[in-house]
Amino acid sequence: MSERIFVGADHAGFQLKERLVNELKRLGYEPVDVGPKTMNPADDFPDYGRPVAEAVSSGAAKRGVLTCGTGLGMSYVANRFPRVRAAVAWSPEIAELARKHNDANVLVLPARFVSEEEGMEILHKWLDTAFEGGRHERRVGKIDS
Ligand code: RB5
Repeated sequence: MSERIFVGADHAGFQLKERLVNELKRLGYEPVDVGPKTMNPADDFPDYGRPVAEAVSSGAAKRGVLTCGTGLGMSYVANRFPRVRAAVAWSPEIAELARKHNDANVLVLPARFVSEEEGMEILHKWLDTAFEGGRHERRVGKIDS
C-alpha cells in the first residue's frame, strides 16, 4: 500500500500545493489534499494547517506537507501538536538537515520565496532523506520530554 501524505495550503501556497499533490502522485504516494480546493484570497492558513498536523500527531499519517506565503504561519500551527516536527525549508540543504538531524515529519514550504521547481527539489530531498538517529535521537527525544 502506498504511503498517505497529508497536504494543505492557504491562498498564498495554493498554486504550489497543486503541484505538490501532482508530484506526490507521480512518485507513487497517496496525497490526501485537505484543501483549499479552489483559490480563495480570503482563506486562513490555520484552517488547512490544523487537519494536516492532526493527522501526523495522531499517527493517521507519518508525514505531511504544508505551504503558505512565508511558511511561518503554517509552522506555528503545526508545531503546536504533540509529536509534530514541522520544518520550514527554503533549500534542499535545509530539508536534508531537517530530516537527518531533526526528523522533521512535516515539510513547510514558503511559497512566496521558492519557485515551483525549487519546491519540487526540496520535496524530493525531504522525502528521500532518512533520520540519522544517534545523538540526534537523544535531542529530538528531549523536545517532548
Ligand atoms: C497570507 O497573506 C500570508 O500571511 C500567509 O500565507 C503566511 O505567509 C503566514 O504566515
